[in-house]
Amino acid sequence: MYVGVVGKNPKLSLEELMLVNPTDVKVKHRWVFFNTQNEELLYQLGGFVKIGKVVEKVIPTKSLLGSNDNDLLKVLKKSKKIQRYKLISPEHINQEVAKKGEEFLSTPFWMVKIFYWQPIELYQTIDFEKPLRGMEVGMMPSKLAHIMVNIARVWKNIESWTVYDPFVGFGTTGMITNRLSWNFIGSDINISMAKANFKWWQTTPYYQNSKITLFKHDVTNPFTKPFLKNVDIIVTEGWLGPSLRWKRIYSALIKDIFEKVKEVYISFFKNLEQFVLNVHPKRELTWVISMPYYDLGKDTKSMFEALVPIITFAKFQRIDIYWRDSQRVKREIVRFLISGND
Ligand SMILES: C[S@@+](CC[C@H](N)C(=O)[O-])C[C@H]1O[C@@H](n2cnc3c(N)ncnc32)[C@H](O)[C@@H]1O
Repeated sequence: MYVGVVGKNPKLSLEELMLVNPTDVKVKHRWVFFNTQNEELLYQLGGFVKIGKVVEKVIPTKSLLGSNDNDLLKVLKKSKKIQRYKLISPEHINQEVAKKGEEFLSTPFWMVKIFYWQPIELYQTIDFEKPLRGMEVGMMPSKLAHIMVNIARVWKNIESWTVYDPFVGFGTTGMITNRLSWNFIGSDINISMAKANFKWWQTTPYYQNSKITLFKHDVTNPFTKPFLKNVDIIVTEGWLGPSLRWKRIYSALIKDIFEKVKEVYISFFKNLEQFVLNVHPKRELTWVISMPYYDLGKDTKSMFEALVPIITFAKFQRIDIYWRDSQRVKREIVRFLISGND
């Protein structure tokens, strides 16, 4: 039996977990208990803070131990089974324990030995160290990009991947894809930011030697590049509209921008449909998109809600809304399966 501690968006974490074909899933607060035959895939998840396996007894093999159980830690220290200990809550990661020690968690049912911690250092590097970034335009958090890639794989899992991001922006999806050693294609109306950021990415220890292709493209034009034939899944965060300073966010302006952005999405979707029919030989594409929109209190309108009537060419599933209290931008995560008519 395995146990995971879900992140702040449990629906996204549970959807991502489908990648490992879990059985006997039980959820209690932020704990998820499950079985799986695919333990190796658990190391690829982004939506769990930590994951462990049930153990009958706590038998430490290292001198540093972390746990949420203070009594256990004290007893082991007293009996000299360990030299040092750290009290850690299930939702937090102690890097020293993750790297040099061991962690045992006391859960509502069993004792668990942790074997996987979310790669937060990778996420911090991508989110805060890339040379070009712009939090004010609602840049996609890299952890979300990671979870979205996995959510796309649930419907179409193969060994080696080419991921395409048609709104590549600062390149977040590409860095996560490259870290996973898969090929990446990115395009944007303004490709200069991604180009600069990938130059930096190649100098980080996370860079893998897989293919990265970037090109300038406006999604309101047809997708015709021959190499797009290689795309397996599309993972992207759509456009929010021209960047605004917070103080300029007021309803009338947002409503005006909303209509303009909606037009961009409508032609983007039409071009994507043609792409599946004409360019993509497998005639089936999984596509996970995060659609950002401004939170305007009771006037809030979801972009996807507004687009539903025109989406007649794809199966889709609305998965969750990702947002933080401190942000005025919400993101709706939607998964599509687009098939051509053979
Ligand atoms: C929210 S950003 C994507 C951010 C990206 N996910 C990241 O984290 O770096 C949206 C991007 O859409 C691009 N964009 C806007 N309109 C576009 C269009 N018609 N065609 C292609 N890209 C467009 C913008 O240049 C911007 O880089």
